[in-house]
Order: sequence, then structure tokens, then C-alpha cells
Amino acid sequence: MSAIAQLAPSLLRVLLVGSQEEDFFLIREILERNRVSLPANLDHARSIDEAKEMLTQSDYGLVLFQHETGDAAVNLLSEFAYSRGAAPFVILTEHADENAVAEIIQSGASDCMDRSQLNGANLVRTIRCALRLHSTQQQRQAAEQSLRKLSCAVEHSADTILVTNGEGIIEYVNPALESITGYSLAEIMGENQGILNSELQVPLLYRELWETIRVTDGARSLAVKRKKNGEVYYAEESISPIHNADGKITHRVYNGRDLTERLRIEAELVQSQKMDAIGRLAGGVAHDFNNLLTIITSYSELALDSISAGSPAQSRVQEILSAAHRAAELTRQLLAFGRKQPQALRVAELNPVVGSIVRTLNRLIAEDIELVFQPGADLGRVRLDPVQIEQILMNLAANSRDAMPQGGRCTIQTSNVQLDQEYVDRKRAIIPIGRYAVITVTDTGSGIPTEHLPHIFEPFYTTKPSGKGTGLGLATVYGIVKQNHGFVWVYSEPGLGTTFKIYLPCVPDRPAATVVAEAGDNEKFSGTETVLLVEDERSLRRAAVEFLSLRGYTVLEAQDGLEALSITRTHASPIHLTVTDVVMPQMSGGELARELERLRPETKLLFLSGYPGETVVDHKVFEADGNFLQKPFTLNQLARKVRTVLDHQPDMIANATTQSGASLRC
Ligand SMILES: Nc1ncnc2c1ncn2[C@@H]1O[C@H](COP(=O)(O)OP(=O)(O)OP(=O)(O)O)[C@@H](O)[C@H]1O
Ligand SMILES: [Mg+2]
Repeated sequence: MSAIAQLAPSLLRVLLVGSQEEDFFLIREILERNRVSLPANLDHARSIDEAKEMLTQSDYGLVLFQHETGDAAVNLLSEFAYSRGAAPFVILTEHADENAVAEIIQSGASDCMDRSQLNGANLVRTIRCALRLHSTQQQRQAAEQSLRKLSCAVEHSADTILVTNGEGIIEYVNPALESITGYSLAEIMGENQGILNSELQVPLLYRELWETIRVTDGARSLAVKRKKNGEVYYAEESISPIHNADGKITHRVYNGRDLTERLRIEAELVQSQKMDAIGRLAGGVAHDFNNLLTIITSYSELALDSISAGSPAQSRVQEILSAAHRAAELTRQLLAFGRKQPQALRVAELNPVVGSIVRTLNRLIAEDIELVFQPGADLGRVRLDPVQIEQILMNLAANSRDAMPQGGRCTIQTSNVQLDQEYVDRKRAIIPIGRYAVITVTDTGSGIPTEHLPHIFEPFYTTKPSGKGTGLGLATVYGIVKQNHGFVWVYSEPGLGTTFKIYLPCVPDRPAATVVAEAGDNEKFSGTETVLLVEDERSLRRAAVEFLSLRGYTVLEAQDGLEALSITRTHASPIHLTVTDVVMPQMSGGELARELERLRPETKLLFLSGYPGETVVDHKVFEADGNFLQKPFTLNQLARKVRTVLDHQPDMIANATTQSGASLRC
């Protein structure tokens, strides 16, 4: 029970410590006589040890020490002060002079009184004074302790705390604010709190904020602040006023949390979700478009075959064909961005692939631009599709060219890096650690303004005049890199040029697949074998049948897998090749392939699909990409592919598709 609570009406327990019995009887009698004004009872400890025992067992509101207990009394009390809150104590002195009294008070006693003065009025007054003094001391101690705790909380808070006076002049900032803003307390004290405003928010917003503070006595906002070094940071901030007794605002407390990192991560997430969504949309549109384009090109080619050379109709159909090719090129870019581009993957060294592409880049780059290739040593092998690497390099080189109208240098380097946890932490990126082969393309061009950087990989984002750029170049690069489980970084400063870094994950060493070139363009892609064509799209099937028949093949046609199986069962002569669409009603190309494998294991297979290679792999219909032709294709490409598949063993035709033209849009 606290001493102040014992001032009135409850019973005060007093302990007398000392060996003089007559004092005990006298004090007990006095207390009994004054029971009404000071209800109290008295216990007696004859020695310090006994007192210790009794203080341990019971709560006493006051301890009276007889003079002879001396220093031992003080020691005893301080011992109890730590464990259960010291009771006030009064020392009964014997003929003490002023110095002795001062010493006693100094030692921590609440009061002292001379034994010769021991009467009712004096004792009650002394006890009351001692209790009051002790209570005040305890309140002060509690207040100090709580102040210490609060100040410790403020000093150690990870949130920023800033206190201003009523006029907005800074009186205090905590260490968190010092470390975020770079201002020390000494530097910022006395400044107006507006020193941290970034001025990036409209003045109306500041006015509204102050109005809210005025009306509602507090406000919460997302503030854009500026550090000492000029950098901007975002803080969620609450402002609360401190009033004096008259209700006047004397101070304001600004409590803030730095949200910069969280907002950055959220923005990255939104950006990648946006890219994914656009990618899916673009990929879906491109896929459907591919089927239509295949029909257009096929019939244009057939029409060309039946039109006499040099006639006006021939040049018109050729126009249709070349427009369809350009459209096919666009869908290729969209598929690439949507990461749905069919891939002809193989494990390869990067340097020979990049080296041979760089040689062809000269035709793209103006003469006043110096093109330098610096192959790195000991590069890890990567799983790549050379056509895709070509698309990446051509798009990056075309951008560099456009950024250097007055000439300059474009450097293409390859290197080997091992990304460890420390790197990932430093970059604050979510990327798998491991070994990567890096292609770096650097130019000495105009650079990219900071505000454009977050958008350059978005499809159709271009800063070039209309007709000059479609904004699909970097979207293509981005899609391809993501499809290959790599990542791309750009470093650029206006006026200082641009560097793109493409990181491709290395694969553990194993022998590269044999690459067999497709039949050359000058060969006649004709034959006399029997080909079964399975395609549910009637127009496309008709065009392909007609074209392959013109090339000398015996063509059997089926509109779906079931019809194909029945032909396979009933056809009396050999079927050398089955060309089948992958996604069809009733039975997929994969299921058909498994049945054919059983019925006619000697029949070779060629898959056609408007879906990406990956999807085809998901359908588990082909392992090597050599027996796959991506729609849209031209009939000539079909004939070439048919010939290639017929002429080679399945494991020898891996990657044959890599020879078909790479895209370049510029
Ligand atoms: N090396 C570079 N130097 C300066 N700016 C660049 C560079 N690479 C890209 N950019 C900027 O990024 C934008 C987007 O590039 P992207 O390749 O996606 O489209 P584009 O070049 O404008 O058009 P497209 O490639 O479809 O012809 C460009 O318009 C340009 O502003
Ligand atoms: Mg471009």
C-alpha cells in the first residue's frame, strides 16, 4: 500500500526498530491516543536483523528508527528500496545538533525528531510530514521514470518523430529522422518544418492539410519529403497538436514512417503484373491472328502459282503476300513479348552465336557508328535459341543506332558472372543466384531520360516520331529474356549513353546438340512420298494439300485425329509422314502421335501449331523442336520443313528451325 494512501482513513502500520522497550510503550500509547486523527498500529523489532525479517514479511507504511541503530538503518532501508519500494523512515535522535540533523536527512530519512520531544502532537505531525514528503518523492520518481521510458521509446523508435512549436519551428527530431533525412538535430533545430517539404505536392494539398489540422486537431497524410542531399522520400505522416491548459496549441508532433522502399517494391510488382497481363493479351491475340495469316499467305502463294508472270494480278497478290509477311512479323514480336514465342532451344556457347550475329549487324548500323564486339573468356553455356538472341541484339543495336544520329560507338560484350546473395541483397532484386552469361550492349548515344526508364519495356512505348518506331523492340527483348529465365537491366543517363545488360542463366556443362541445317533455299522442296495432313482449319488444310500435291507428294487429308487414325488403319501403302496440327477438337496432335507410334512406328511426324513451342512441350508431343513448325508459315516453309523431316532422323533435325529468318523491325 502506498504511503499517500495511508495518510487517511486506512490503518497505518508502523515499525519501531531499536532495543529500547520504553520507547515502544510510549509511542504505542501516543498512537492509541491519537487513533482518530491517525489510525495506526505499532510493531517492534528489537534488532536490525529482526527488522529485516519483519519488513520482508509485511508491508509497513513507516519505519521509526531509534537513534542507536545508526547507519545500519539506512543500509536496511536502501536494501528494501529496490525490492518493494522503500517506506519513509524517521529517526528518533538524542540531543542532535543542527549538523547531525542535516546529516540524517542527507542519509535519506524523511524526518527526525528528538526523543525529548516525543509527545502526541509532535509525533503525529512528524509522521504526517514524513508520509507527505515521501509520497511527493515517490510521485516525482515515478514521473521521472515514465519520462525516461518515453524518451527512450522516442529515441529508439524506427518511425520519425519531429516536434515543432506552435509556429512550426522545429524543437526536436529523433535519431530515426536524423538518419533518414541526413540532418542532425543541431542542424535542423530552429528551422521551419517546411524544410523537409519536397514541393512535389501541389500547394493546394498543403493548404488542405493545414485546414484539416486546424479543424480536426490532427491529420494523417502521405507526404513526399526531401532529404538534406536533395533525394525524395515518401512518408506516411500523422500530425497531432499539444495544447496548454488554456487549450492553445503550443506544439505539434509529426510522426512519420518511411514508405519509400515499400512503395518501390509495390510499384515493381504492379509493373510486372502489368507486363504479364499485357503479355497474355498480346500473346492471345497473336496466336489467333497467326491462323488467319497462314490462310492468307497460303492462298496468296497458291494464287501466285496460277497467275501468269508479269501480269498486274501477280504484283497485286505479291503485295498481299508481303503485307501478310509484315503482319506475321508483328505477331512474332507480340508472341515474343508475351513469352509465347516458339523456341528452338539448344545448349550452346554464347560467343560464337553472338559473334556471327554481330557480323550481320553492320548492315543495320550506319557507317559512322563503330561496332565493337568484345567476347569474354570462359563463358558458361546457356540454353538459347539463336534466333531469339538475334532478335535481342538487332533490337538493341537498332535502338543504339537511333540514339546516335551523329555517329558514335556501339559495343557488344559478353561476360561471365556469378551472382551471389550479397549481389541480390545489394540490388534488392528477386533473382535466383547462380552463374550467368551476360550480353552487354553499350552505346555513346543520347541516353534515356529518367522519367522514360520505367516505361521503355512496355509494348508500344516509343519516343520516336510516328512511323519511325512501334515501341515493340524492347518489349520483345524483355519477353525473350523472361522466357529464358533471365533478366535485363538498363543503365542510362541523358547525354552519357546507355547500357543494356542481358543476364542468361548458365546450364551445367553437357554436349551440345548436333545442328543440321535445313535444306537450302535453292533446293526444290518436292518429293514423291505419301503425306497424311491432319488440320481442322478447312481453308488451311485445302491450301496445304493443294500445294504439297503440286510438289509431287501424295497427300492424304484428315480433318481431325479420329479421321487420321481411320486413314492410317485402312491405307494400304506406306505413309511416310504425318503432318498434324497440335490443338484440335476430339483428339490432340499429341494423342494422335501416340496412336500413330503404335500403328505405324515408321511414320515420321511434323507438328504445326499457332501455340508456342512451350505449350506443345506441355502437351508432351515433341521433345526435339526440329519436327515443329510454328504458324503462321508460308507454304514454301511447309514444303521445306516436310523435306527436312523426311530426309533426316528425328535426333538429327534438332534445331533445324533455327535457320528460318530472324525478325528485325526497324
Ligand atoms: N539505346 C537507347 N538510347 C536511347 N533511348 C533508347 C535506347 N533504347 C531504347 N530507348 C528508348 O526506349 C524507347 C522504346 O524502345 P523500343 O525499342 O521498345 O521501341 P522503339 O525503338 O521506339 O520502336 P521499335 O523498336 O518498335 O522500332 C525508345 O523509343 C527510346 O526512347
Ligand atoms: Mg527499338
